[in-house]
Amino acid sequence: MTNEAQIFDKIVNGRRSVRIYDQTHEYDKSIVERSLQRAILSPNSSNMQLWEFYRITDSKAKKQIAHYCMDQLPATTANELVVFVTRPDKYKESIKLNLDLINSPNNFEKEERKEKRRNYYAKLMPAFYTFDFLFIFSLLKKAYVNIVGLKKPAIREVTSIDKKVTIHKSVGLAAQTFMLSVYAEGYDTCPMEGFDSKRIKKYLALPKKAQINMVISVGKRTADGIFYPRIRYNYNDVVKEI
Ligand SMILES: Cc1cc2nc3c(=O)[nH]c(=O)nc-3n(C[C@H](O)[C@H](O)[C@H](O)COP(=O)(O)O)c2cc1C
Repeated sequence: MTNEAQIFDKIVNGRRSVRIYDQTHEYDKSIVERSLQRAILSPNSSNMQLWEFYRITDSKAKKQIAHYCMDQLPATTANELVVFVTRPDKYKESIKLNLDLINSPNNFEKEERKEKRRNYYAKLMPAFYTFDFLFIFSLLKKAYVNIVGLKKPAIREVTSIDKKVTIHKSVGLAAQTFMLSVYAEGYDTCPMEGFDSKRIKKYLALPKKAQINMVISVGKRTADGIFYPRIRYNYNDVVKEI
């Protein structure tokens, strides 16, 4: 095993979902900025980066968001809460960001690849992310891929529901990078989906199409902050080699 793998092994094994944080610990909030900088480097679908991360540090705001997290201990005892948000509505800006990169003089990409990617962002991405009134466009796309898919492999996930899943996958990866990084920085986290998304969205003034992926609390674990031993299926129960 390389040194890097040994360190990574320690981080993955050491991270736990912590339910009680030490509120007497002098909190260093810079670790969250560094961890979010790393989270932003996470792989994400088509590099669209349709995500936002809301740092809740103000004590009044923290109390309110913790309340919307059903007053769970990992929320009420945390030093900071980070809300991971999907932003499908920002797709046009993301397309422009990617097209600008392709056209930038610093882009070392081969010319024929540039052309393919220009088409991808200028044609395919708008078709996938565009607003879909009454699901009609989704049904048309679904019918199209089902016909194309009769003869050759086709990507089947083309509806506006699939689009939501696509973005949540990417935000979930950012969340994991964030949690591993926070642990590497000497702190702990707890991912939460037990929250009132409607109230959090209203509090953060998020647009209708945005969704809350997870709320992740951050702090330093107390001696009794982990509630139970870690349990996982055995490797052979879940890994299938074909
Ligand atoms: C999407 C997601 C939602 C979760 N929601 C909550 C939650 O609302 N409250 C909580 O205490 N833990 C929550 N957890 C933590 C899990 O219970 C925890 O990851 C699991 O029991 C495994 O334990 P470990 O993280 O310590 O390895 C959540 C985890 C994930 C990934």
